[in-house]
Amino acid sequence: MQIQGSGALVTGGASGLGLATARRLAAAGATVTIVDLASSQGAEVAAELGGVFAPADVTSVEEVAAAVAAAQDAAPLRIVVNCAGIAPPAKVLDRDGNPADVAAFERIIRINLIGTFTVIAQASAVIAKNDPTESGDRGVIVNTASVAAFDGQIGQPAYSASKGGVHAMTLPIARELARHAIRVCTIAPGIMETPMLAGLPQAAQDSLGEQVPYPARLGRPDEYASLVQQIVENGYLNGETIRLDGAIRMAPK
Ligand SMILES: NC(=O)c1ccc[n+]([C@@H]2O[C@H](COP(=O)([O-])OP(=O)(O)OC[C@H]3O[C@@H](n4cnc5c(N)ncnc54)[C@H](O)[C@@H]3O)[C@@H](O)[C@H]2O)c1
Repeated sequence: MQIQGSGALVTGGASGLGLATARRLAAAGATVTIVDLASSQGAEVAAELGGVFAPADVTSVEEVAAAVAAAQDAAPLRIVVNCAGIAPPAKVLDRDGNPADVAAFERIIRINLIGTFTVIAQASAVIAKNDPTESGDRGVIVNTASVAAFDGQIGQPAYSASKGGVHAMTLPIARELARHAIRVCTIAPGIMETPMLAGLPQAAQDSLGEQVPYPARLGRPDEYASLVQQIVENGYLNGETIRLDGAIRMAPK
């Protein structure tokens, strides 16, 4: 599908992978709506890109619906990229061997998995009512899982479950939305150089980079954005999760 002239909604678009994607889509001619927390840099990013900032927490159906409406007002919505997410560690047992607080598990699932579903549901309802393009397509949805969906580390049961859920729902949603000419793919990044990782000491970041078989470095946000662009433009990619990870397979810790 052609990016030029399309409306694109990017959640988590104020930072990291979402920011790189918003920049790339805007450079390719999309009208971009940044959907991120009100406390984020979304307004500055939208101003830089000549786009729209629609503040929303992806756990709120009402806020997501309003953000989708704002995106559709700006330009016919065709591209949705789900990048909003969090990755705090949450083990099964705490330091004293007691069961960990289930609230931490629930919060990660609510943002990463249910938030992604909410955005897909609200956006696809709007996209399905838009006229198809000349090529017959209505839209493309790209979700963000993680290699932790497949090789989660100690401390990642909630994160892995949330990202495994994003991977697992990709095919059934692609099958359902096929009748509306909407494709759905998911990217499972390895270790990417974003603010999410920047909190780690430089030595830890270097060590993570060295674990990547080739190239032995962290992934760059624009390498993620470039794959989003390819998924949008390649009309035969659908229902698939693509690892973007330099062949890393994560160790237990
Ligand atoms: N960086 C990595 O190594 C890596 C690897 C695999 C997967 N991922 C996934 O990629 C996605 C983007 O991560 P990133 O590295 O760019 O992180 P990031 O922290 O730079 O960006 C995440 C963005 O999501 C927003 N966000 C968080 N909670 C939100 C909510 N409830 N509602 C709306 N927006 C919310 C934040 O404000 C932020 O702007 C996440 O889903 C993350 O799990 C990242």
